[in-house]
Amino acid sequence: MCGIVGYVGSKYYGPDVVINGLRRLEYRGYDSAGIAIRYNPGERTDAMYGNVIENWREKGGVDELYDSIPESVIWESNCVIGHTRWATHGVPSRRNAHPHTSMNRTITLVHNGIIENYETLRKKLIQEGYEFESQTDTEVLANWIEYMYNKIYSETPGDLELAVRLALKDVVGAYAILVISPETDNVIMAKKSSPLAIGIADDGFVIASDATPIVEYTKDVIYLEDEQIAVIENNSDIRITDLNAVEVDPVIERVDLDLEQIEKGGFDSFMMKEINEQPETIQNCIRGRLTDGLDQLMMGGIDPVMPQLLRANKIFIIACGTSWHAALTGKNMIEKLARIPVEVDYASEFRYKDPIIKSGDVVIGITQSGETADTKAAMEMARERGATLFGVVNVVGSSIARLADAGMYTHSGIEVGVASTKAFTGQVAAMALLAIKLGRQLGNINDDTYLRLKSSLKSIPAKVAKILSQTEDILAIADEYTDEKYHDFLYLARGHNFPIALEGALKLKEISYAHAEGYPAGEMKHGPIALIDENCPSVFILPNDKDYGKVISNMQEVKARSGKVLAIVNEGDELAETIADHVIKIPECEEIFMPLLTVIPLQLISYQIATARGKNVDKPRNLAKSVTVE
Ligand code: AGP
Repeated sequence: MCGIVGYVGSKYYGPDVVINGLRRLEYRGYDSAGIAIRYNPGERTDAMYGNVIENWREKGGVDELYDSIPESVIWESNCVIGHTRWATHGVPSRRNAHPHTSMNRTITLVHNGIIENYETLRKKLIQEGYEFESQTDTEVLANWIEYMYNKIYSETPGDLELAVRLALKDVVGAYAILVISPETDNVIMAKKSSPLAIGIADDGFVIASDATPIVEYTKDVIYLEDEQIAVIENNSDIRITDLNAVEVDPVIERVDLDLEQIEKGGFDSFMMKEINEQPETIQNCIRGRLTDGLDQLMMGGIDPVMPQLLRANKIFIIACGTSWHAALTGKNMIEKLARIPVEVDYASEFRYKDPIIKSGDVVIGITQSGETADTKAAMEMARERGATLFGVVNVVGSSIARLADAGMYTHSGIEVGVASTKAFTGQVAAMALLAIKLGRQLGNINDDTYLRLKSSLKSIPAKVAKILSQTEDILAIADEYTDEKYHDFLYLARGHNFPIALEGALKLKEISYAHAEGYPAGEMKHGPIALIDENCPSVFILPNDKDYGKVISNMQEVKARSGKVLAIVNEGDELAETIADHVIKIPECEEIFMPLLTVIPLQLISYQIATARGKNVDKPRNLAKSVTVE
C-alpha cells in the first residue's frame, strides 16, 4: 500500500507539489520513494524537441529522496509523477523504488497495488527479449504496456491510452497507476481496487491515492471507480472511460478536509495529536445521533438496512487489526443490549473460510481507511452470497463506504498516525450507538436503562478529557517500563475489556516492536503465566465491574511469581494499589462503555515506551496506514 501523487498543471513547480504530496502520503509506506519529471527542453528554447523524462529514486523516506535530487534538475516542470513505497515485491532499494521505466524507456509509471500474474507476463516478455532491472511486479507492468504500445504502433502510433487499456485487460490484481511517456503529452491514470483521487485545480490536476495531497490546491475531487481509465490531454482536459473505452461522466465531489487537520497542530507526532483529539472526535461520532430523553437515536445511515438488522438471526462483523478489536467490543455490546448473536471474523479469514451466509444476513465491515483490501474483498464476497453490507468507516468517499448498502461514518477526521487511536474510539462509539439503537427497537431496553445508557455515553468525551489531563502522570508511570530489558508484555482483562487488552498489546507491538500479547485474564493460568518473571510486565485492566474480584486474583497470581504489574482501575479503587506496582485511575461509566476509557492510558503507555526507545511512532517499521493489498 504505497502512496502515489501526480501533478499536471502550469501554476506550480511540479516536483514541489509531488514531493509535498508524497510527504502527506508517507503513512501509506515509507521504505523508498521516487519521482519522474517530464519536461520538454524545447520549452526553454524554441527548438523542436520531444519530451524528456528524468527519474529520481532513493531508499528511505521522501526526505532522503529530496536530498538526493541534484540542484541542476529541471524543477519548473508541469508534469511530475511520484511514489512512496511499502515493499511487496523486492526489498526496499533504489532499484526497486518507483517510478519504473520500461526497457526501451517509452513508459514510465508509478503503481499502488499488486500485479498477481506478473510472473506469467514476465515470462512472456522475456520470450519477447525483455530484460528487467528490478524485482518488482510494477516493472513488469511498465514493460507489458510498452509491449502493447509497440504492438499497436503501426495502426495507432503514439496511442498510450490504448496501449494501457489493452495491457490492463491482461492484468490480474490490484492497481492504481499514473503513466507518462516522452512520446506524448497525455497522462494516463487507471484504477482497480487501489484508491485514486483526481483533484480538479484551476491550473490543472493534482492526482493522489487519497485527498490529503490534493486539498492544499483544490477541494473538487473525482474518485476514479474500479476499471476506469482517465486521460489528461493537453495538460488541461480530462476524459474518463471504462476498460472497454465507453465514456463515463466524471462525478466531482467536494472534499470536507482542510490543511489544519493534516498538520501536527503543535504536537511532536500525529499519534499524540490524534490521542488528544479523542474527546472531540468521540463527540463528533455521537453528535446529532445521541438524542436527548427517550427520543429515538438519529442514525439515518442505518435506516436502509434496519429491517434486516432487526430480524437478523445473526450479525457478522468483519475487520482487520485495530478495527477487529472494535468489532469485538461491538459484539459484546450488541449481544448485551440487542440479544442478537454476533460472529466476529478477521476479514482475511472470512474471505476464504466459506462462511455460512444466508440471503438477507447483514455483514458489517469496520474500517478506518475504507480501503483495506482484505475487508473490501470479504464484503464483496458476502454480497455475492446475498448479504446486506453495512459499513462503519472513517474516510469519507472511500471504496468500502461506496461499496456498502448503508453505513455510518465515525467522523474521527483524518488519521495520519499509522497506529490507530482516535479512529478506534470512534468505531467503539459507533458500535455503542448501533447496540443501543437495536436494543431499544427490539424492546430489550426499558426507559430507565435507555436514559442511563444515553447519559453515560454522553459523558464519555469529558471523561476522556479528564484522563488526558493526567497525561504527564501516565507517561511518568510508563517511563518505569521503557527499559529494553522489558521485551515481553502481557495485557490482561476480562469481559468487555478483553478486546482492550488485545488493542493495548497491538499498540505496543506496532510502535515499540516489543513482544506483547493480550489475553483474557482467566486464560493466563492456562499457559501465558509461564512467561511471567521480573522482565515480563503485566498490564491489567480491571474497572470496578462484575469481573473485578476475579481479575484481582489473577493479579495476585502474577505478583506471586514476582511479575511487575501496572493496573488500570477506576477512581476510588484502593485495593489494586496494594497489589500492583503502578496504578492508573480513570473515571467510571456504564460497564459496557468502559472500553472507551480503558484504552486511553494504553495508547499513552505504548506511545511513551516507543518514544523512549527512540522509535518513530507515526511511521513504525514494516507497517502502513491502509493495507490495500491482500
Ligand atoms: C492499527 O493501528 C493498524 N494501523 C492496523 O492494524 C489497522 O487497524 C488495520 O490495518 C485495519 O485498517 P482499517 O481500519 O483501515 O481497515
